[in-house]
Amino acid sequence: MSTQTQPLLEVRNLCVTYGSGPAAVPAVRGVDLVLPAGRKLGVAGESGCGKSTMALALLRLLPASARMTGEILLDGEDVLAMKWGRLRAVRWAGASIVFQGAMHSLNAVRRIGDQIAEPLLVHGRATPAAARRRTGELLEHVGLPAARAAAYPHELSGGQRQRVMIAMALACDPRLIVADEPTTALDVMIQAQILRLIERLVAEQDIGLLMISHDLAVLADTCDRLAVMYAGRVVEEGPAKEVYEAAAHPYGKALSSAFPRIGDPASRRAPRGLPGDPPDPADLPGGCTFHPRCPVAVDGCAEQDQELRDAGAGRRAACVHVGSTS
Ligand SMILES: Nc1ncnc2c1ncn2[C@@H]1O[C@H](COP(=O)(O)OP(=O)(O)OP(=O)(O)O)[C@@H](O)[C@H]1O
Ligand code: SF4
Ligand SMILES: [Mg+2]
Repeated sequence: MSTQTQPLLEVRNLCVTYGSGPAAVPAVRGVDLVLPAGRKLGVAGESGCGKSTMALALLRLLPASARMTGEILLDGEDVLAMKWGRLRAVRWAGASIVFQGAMHSLNAVRRIGDQIAEPLLVHGRATPAAARRRTGELLEHVGLPAARAAAYPHELSGGQRQRVMIAMALACDPRLIVADEPTTALDVMIQAQILRLIERLVAEQDIGLLMISHDLAVLADTCDRLAVMYAGRVVEEGPAKEVYEAAAHPYGKALSSAFPRIGDPASRRAPRGLPGDPPDPADLPGGCTFHPRCPVAVDGCAEQDQELRDAGAGRRAACVHVGSTS
């Protein structure tokens, strides 16, 4: 249990633009997020809304074409201002990322045990013998026999590979895990197992979790708080259950009804989708970027952009219908 007041992660006005000039793509446009140590924050949104860009920005893993501004404070230290040596130490040891599609993230020609041991060795955390021991422990911790260390990635199932990725993420005892669609490629049963595993591990080790998914139901089931992103911005944020069950923003509402509620067969039969596609970040509509798809848009929504504002009970939303407009 953490008693400090400084959050584990604080993102302030983060902006990420790919490229420059007329072809520039503003993928993240002023995101503010706070994650206290040991808590779980979910980030939801449709494809292309900037979730992975934001996740990669947290550890400065974006390609060279990306320009970042704002602040990313990890235990109060700005990741964007870190020198390379410090950044290398923070990656894995301070914070680590579990990506979607473990097959592509693992090296196909190296045994998984060697891959799990690598961060321990690179960061000087263990001798080769101790790293081998720790690798066995980590595998057992994620529900795989220690002997699987000798396997190559293609010898494992998708779920087992994702367990390996989680073991790698845990290897250096990070304080923060960023999980970008960690279960999307998996079938529903395995997805549930992996989610429970992540939940157990972060609870046992007091790790902060930032979990990204397009599926609000999955996030609501796992996280304490939820942020909903649209066109590079957070448009709603609050306690997970409340945001999922009664979103304040029309986009949050549409997103939550687009996915079946866990344990509610009726909602599975009648998920209401959202018409239209998310906007192209290189050609965003004016005003509230959601207005072309919004079922409750009013005069002025096409001109007037909306800031996140207090929506009561620890919630914030960016919509003209929420709170006061002053
Ligand atoms: N390397 C890149 N260069 C240029 N544009 C990029 C690059 N990576 C992503 N983008 C663009 O940035 C926007 C946000 O992409 P991002 O991958 O962050 O979205 P996402 O929310 O993670 O989507 P998904 O749910 O499909 O994973 C998209 O319009 C995408 O095309
Ligand atoms: S500000 Fe207007 S367009 Fe945007 S979500 Fe609210 S009602 Fe819809
Ligand atoms: Mg993504």
